[in-house]
Order: sequence, then C-alpha cells, then structure tokens
Amino acid sequence: MTAYLITGVSVVGGEPTDLLIRDGVVAAVGDGLAADDATVVDATGLVALPGLVDLHTHLREPGREDAETVESGSRAAALGGYTAVCAMANTSPVADTAGVVEQVWRLGREAGLVDVQPIGAVTVGLAGERLAELGAMADSAAGVRIFSDDGHCVSDPRLMRRALEYVKAFDGVIAQHAEEPRLTEGAQMHEGEVSTRLGLTGWPAVAEEAIIARDVLLAEHVGSRLHVCHVSTAGSVEVLRQAKARGVRVTAEVTPHHLLLTDAKAESYDPVFKVNPPLRTAADIAALREALAEGVIDIIATDHAPHAVEDKECEWAYARPGMLGLETALSIALDVFGPRWDLIAERMSRTPARIAGLTGHGVDPTPGVPANLTLVDPAARRVIEPAELASRSRNTPYARMTLPGRIVATFLRGEPTVLDGKAVK
Ligand code: DOR
Ligand code: ZN
Repeated sequence: MTAYLITGVSVVGGEPTDLLIRDGVVAAVGDGLAADDATVVDATGLVALPGLVDLHTHLREPGREDAETVESGSRAAALGGYTAVCAMANTSPVADTAGVVEQVWRLGREAGLVDVQPIGAVTVGLAGERLAELGAMADSAAGVRIFSDDGHCVSDPRLMRRALEYVKAFDGVIAQHAEEPRLTEGAQMHEGEVSTRLGLTGWPAVAEEAIIARDVLLAEHVGSRLHVCHVSTAGSVEVLRQAKARGVRVTAEVTPHHLLLTDAKAESYDPVFKVNPPLRTAADIAALREALAEGVIDIIATDHAPHAVEDKECEWAYARPGMLGLETALSIALDVFGPRWDLIAERMSRTPARIAGLTGHGVDPTPGVPANLTLVDPAARRVIEPAELASRSRNTPYARMTLPGRIVATFLRGEPTVLDGKAVK
C-alpha cells in the first residue's frame, strides 16, 4: 500500500495542516509532517471532508445496465467526493431477496471505487402487497439495514406497520417514498400555478405530507426508525418538525435539486426537469433550506436517477422521472450554503453514515480512523458538460450551468479513487 502525505489542507474548514495516510488509515494529522516513502499531494487551498455518503442512489444494475452499472455509478460517486452509496432496490429483478442484494454488494466490491451498500425492497417486487424477505436480506453478506420501495410508496398502512415492526428487532430502517398514490394519479408536475397554466395534471403537496404524517404516527406507535426520502414541501417540514419535537425516531433527506430548482423549470417542457417528487415552489425551497440548516431535515441525499436517452428525450408525459446527482451534489451544496464546511460534512457525510450504520465512513480525519475522505477545491468553478460525466446517462438538470467547487481527490480506505480530478481506474 502506498502512503500519501496531503499537505496544507484545511480539515473541514480549519487552519491548514498536513495529513498522513498509511495502510488504509489516517496515520497522523499535524503541521510539518514528513514521510520519505509517501506520495505528496499538495493540497494548498483545498478542504478535506470525510468522504461523502449518499443514502439514496439508483445504480440500475441488475437490469438497466444501459443507463448505469454499479461500476459506472460508483465512478460517478467517487468523482463527486463520495466513499459510500446506498443502492436503491428498484432494479430488475428487484432487490427483494438475499441473492440480489448480495449480487449488488459483490459488484460494488469488485468495482472498488466506493462502498456500495444495498437497500432491500420492503415488498416483493415493489408491488406493495407482501413483505419481502427482510430478515434474509439483513442476515445476508450484504447486511441490509435500510429497506425501501422507493419509486413507489408503501401506501398500505398495515403493511407499513408490519415492516416497521419487523425491522425493529435489528434496528433497521424503513425509508419511505412518501406519495399517496390516489392523490397523484396521472400527475406530471407540482400542482400549483405553473401546472394550471401549462394544463398539466398536478402532484399536490398534500400527497407527500399525508403519508409522512401517517408514517411518523406509525413509527411512534411501533417505536421503530423511519427515514423519509426526498422531502420536497414546506408542509412536510412542519410535520417532521412536530414529530421530532415529540421524539419520534424519524430522519429525513432532501435532494440537491429540491434545494435549487423550482417548478418553473417545467415551462421548458424539457423532461430533464421531470422528477418524482416534482420540483416545487420557491417558498418550498426556502423552507427546505432552513430545515436542512436547522437539522429538521437531517441530510442531503442525491436520488441519483440515471435514465437512458430514449426514456428522457421524449415528450414530457412519457419521460421517466429522475435526474443525475452524484457528480454535482457537493457543488449544489456549496452554491446553496456557501463554505459552511461543518454543515456540509454533517449533512452529507457524518449523519448519512450514522443513519445507514456505515462504520468507518462519516468520520473526520483523525489518527487511526479509516482514510475515507475527499479533497475539495472551493475556489474552482466548472461548467457542467453532460458528455463529460462518468455516469452512463446524461440527464443532468445542470447542463452548461457554472457551479462552484471541484472534487480534486477522493480516498477510499487510503487508496485514491480520484486524483487531480480524474478517476484513478
Ligand atoms: O424521480 C425519481 N426517479 N423518483 C423516484 O422515486 C424513483 C426514481 C427512479 O428510479 O428513476
Ligand atoms: Zn429514488
């Protein structure tokens, strides 16, 4: 194993110092470190963060390897500063058995670019009818702790209750895609002024808020852990605020796109802006930003949702919902929050690692901890060119936008996955 001496780096926004990485761990932190055998990385002006952790990534393998593979998604993640991602279960076949989650886990290990932690489906085939083999997935080599039917809501309250009860035994988490399906039938975008003007069927905020309200009550009743995926409305924030004040074991995520883009983007009819839940209003964005800063929303998760060209470059009504996120998330966080490094580390690394139970991730570089970290150049600005992304898909909503920040290097257990802004393998 190579040793790396990272010099002049600001650790989570602190005064510049040196970091020595050896044998997969942070060996030393301090000024004027020296190591003859180490490769020197001059990190003057760069900020070191604990490697980012994404709780919500769609990798599309097995089944849609044309849109993304575990390897291509892992590379996109590493380039985005991530050292761990949780892979959503809506693959084909669905990740609803020990066999499929072990396959995804193994593919992640083989790619070796980030730790890929599979999420298991809550119900068989995401059909919302019968519980999947949660225990078998938990006991598998993949050690699944988070279960989600994401893409679909576990809308049957009895099934949701059973799922919460089941995972309580091993402190598992149910991650809910909060969408009351009867309220969103035929929905194409956020229900509001813009949908009325465009004549598109709306997805009302209450369809999300009603499910979150129900589920925090169920989680409270059962005493289990609930995680709410991609919170998108101001009303959801209020439901979460109240639940947290009562001590309900609920955590929540917001995506970069819901922190930045409004439903006005639909006026272009460009399906790159079609996503589920849909882009909301400026007032929702303001509430989401405030909630994230306060901790009512715990984390930023990308909901990286690669789609093949034919599923996106078509009429709005036929396009699949979802947008890329891994390679731009940190830039969006910097754009929205500025250099609030501790907040960024908390919301994009430490807390998601804790929710997912990923030990060794989400820990600031101090002597002895696994060297999972990323180096950011906060002064850099870059123009997003879809063709230059490592993802197999091109559906970024930030095409040709100039965004702040650039990932210069990422280390996974002491080995670089990204150096000089380029993937190492
Ligand atoms: O926009 C979305 N895309 N929302 C989801 O919940 C699923 C995801 C996907 O799988 O493409
Ligand atoms: Zn998703």
